[in-house]
Amino acid sequence: MIKIDKLNQFYGQSHTLWDLTLELNTGNCTCLMGRNGVGKTTLAKAIMGLLPVKSGSIIYDGKDISKLSSDKRAGIGIGYVPQGREIFSQLSVKENLDIGLLGNRNGLKSVPQKIYELFPVLKEMLKRKGGDLSGGQQQQLAIARALCIEPKLLILDEPSEGIQPNIVQQIGSVIDYLTKEEKITVMLIEQKLPFARKHGDDFYIIDRGSVVANGEISQLSDDIIKQYLSV
Ligand SMILES: Nc1ncnc2c1ncn2[C@@H]1O[C@H](COP(=O)(O)OP(=O)(O)OP(=O)(O)O)[C@@H](O)[C@H]1O
Ligand SMILES: [Mg+2]
Repeated sequence: MIKIDKLNQFYGQSHTLWDLTLELNTGNCTCLMGRNGVGKTTLAKAIMGLLPVKSGSIIYDGKDISKLSSDKRAGIGIGYVPQGREIFSQLSVKENLDIGLLGNRNGLKSVPQKIYELFPVLKEMLKRKGGDLSGGQQQQLAIARALCIEPKLLILDEPSEGIQPNIVQQIGSVIDYLTKEEKITVMLIEQKLPFARKHGDDFYIIDRGSVVANGEISQLSDDIIKQYLSV
């Protein structure tokens, strides 16, 4: 589905991703884990085309997309929910979703009913300003907006961060639905182990900008956790 080979990225002089290589299996939820500041968000932005990379390739559906604009990447089915959500707080829920629709690669003109079934709370709040929603509702809105492009690959950057447990659970169920029923490939950046274990199929651990461990989520051992995840 997507294959990243020897990606190198710099912020100015600062070498952040080092020969980073990984592969996501179609229809799986792959958890990308690692301590703070190791480069998880940088990788997500590089895949999305929001940051230039120095070298390496990002092969998506057999083509190298590493030079495409972020709009074009959305146009070929890569959806992105940034860390911290970044919804438009002055716009209504409906307007936020309509902005997602602008990127729809199939020319869809209205929000698919399925999205309101996944997030019923949004349907009740269509006229409410994004900024007036709770943190959890904003996260749901950000995911719903990304789903409006009808992605084949969905990148979620710490969707459970700072969110109340019942909404975290709902988001987990949505991830399961998307991968198991819709066969959408999910890259889930996640720090919470139980959430990763519950919803992930595969894992990758990043440390200082490189992959240091990967496998099926059942292979995520205590040793690996101790070495690369615990603080
Ligand atoms: N715009 C930027 N300019 C310069 N350095 C940056 C920039 N953004 C991030 N960095 C640095 O790059 C490194 C990787 O940051 P990144 O945000 O990718 O980490 P992360 O793994 O997502 O961390 P977290 O778990 O805290 O979200 C960090 O050292 C960070 O300080
Ligand atoms: Mg991050």
